Amino acid sequence: MVLHSGETKRPNRRGGSNPLLDGMNPALAATLTLPHHRLGDEPLPADTALQLVRDELLLDGNARLNLATFVTTWMEPQARELMAECADKNMIDKDEYPQTAELERRCVSILADLWRAPDRDAVIGCSTTGSSEACMLAGMALKRRWSKLGRTGKPNLVMGVNVQVCWEKFCEYWEVEPRLVPMDGDRFHLSAEEAVARCDENTIGVVAILGSTFDGSYEPVAEISAALDEVQERTGWDIPVHVDGASGAMIAPFLDPELEWDFRLPRVASINTSGHKYGLVYPGVGWVLWRHRDALPSELVFNVNYLGGEMPTFALNFSRPGAEVAAQYYTFVRLGREGYRAVQQASRDVATGLAERIGELGPFRLLTRGDELPVFAFTTKPEVTAFDVFDVSRRLRERGWLVPAYTFPDNRTDLAVLRVVCRNGFTHDLADLLIEDLRRALPELEAQTGPSHDPKASTAFHH
Ligand SMILES: Cc1ncc(COP(=O)(O)O)c(C=O)c1O
Repeated sequence: MVLHSGETKRPNRRGGSNPLLDGMNPALAATLTLPHHRLGDEPLPADTALQLVRDELLLDGNARLNLATFVTTWMEPQARELMAECADKNMIDKDEYPQTAELERRCVSILADLWRAPDRDAVIGCSTTGSSEACMLAGMALKRRWSKLGRTGKPNLVMGVNVQVCWEKFCEYWEVEPRLVPMDGDRFHLSAEEAVARCDENTIGVVAILGSTFDGSYEPVAEISAALDEVQERTGWDIPVHVDGASGAMIAPFLDPELEWDFRLPRVASINTSGHKYGLVYPGVGWVLWRHRDALPSELVFNVNYLGGEMPTFALNFSRPGAEVAAQYYTFVRLGREGYRAVQQASRDVATGLAERIGELGPFRLLTRGDELPVFAFTTKPEVTAFDVFDVSRRLRERGWLVPAYTFPDNRTDLAVLRVVCRNGFTHDLADLLIEDLRRALPELEAQTGPSHDPKASTAFHH
């Protein structure tokens, strides 16, 4: 254990001056156990504390080999430097840190442009801790807007069963009935027909996901909007759409510019994204934008002091680090439109290439191909009886790869899949290594007499 030379000496409990028992003890860390339930009695030297905590964290998986997460696991050293410089700034102190507030405002404008808002000046939006908070805010705005219509009944929200858990939380916390459209056969996400079939005068909105957490597929936002236009013509109910673009709202603008899923569709009232997913920033930053101030009831907006004036804020929490917003703006400045396009295209190329090669291995069937989100899901072919997706996940983990296996929700709980999320930093070279490891594991998997896990232990997946 190396201690800072300037370290104050720890008191020698035996009262002597043996250097091995005071602050110079090279084996100090080995003599200590970390507190689990109560604070230790005395302080420790900073380096010793750092070493001990860092050592425990070695047991975490390697973030770069984590193909389960959508969240950014690599940023440039310059971004890390900027984040470290901003770690002490509280985002909410707009008056004290007006330039951080200005960067947030610029990010909102840039997103309004990316998401094709017809009137950028009318757009209102803010940063959040992630998409979950952004979705809560969007859901609250939908509910408040509906409640002003003066309808009686219990409010409901229509969405696919494949929504991320934040929407179930929203419904529970804000007492909204979730109307979840189940999967059906090979339809793994919401369809326009199924969505409108569940709408009524108490529907506060329809959530469309770009794209689905389960398999990376885009939901048909334009079709859902058009079907709701027909509902309005027929019944007079004007039901808004919220697009949960946690991942896709930072992919589609660069890779699928022709796809109409955003504010080009008049029915899309609000959109969220996770800056910390394909926005390419470390956790936690998210964004939510409303196409027009009218879509965000004014009583939900609070004002804080800002440069002697007032700035509207809308958030569930108060204090939050400014570093992520600075890092988001840095990334916008650094990459520009072409840089984002190149990075996202690289991730999609890795995803489609890897999916194709996994399909060619033989025992696997692809559900998606990585050509929407750079994410794909695959399962074992029906004739494969020696092993299942849970065995594959476990074998890959032995080599350090984190590839989750999980069962699908209603009505496809019979289906279990593996999902791979390709992100910035997951290169063709790493994909080659993954394929090699998968190929190497197959003979042993095929030699099994059956799946080695307990099917009852498999859980649904909510990331
Ligand atoms: C579609 C979707 N919505 C919301 C979330 C929640 O995002 P966050 O982790 O940024 O709160 C996720 C996370 O995976 C997601 O995929």
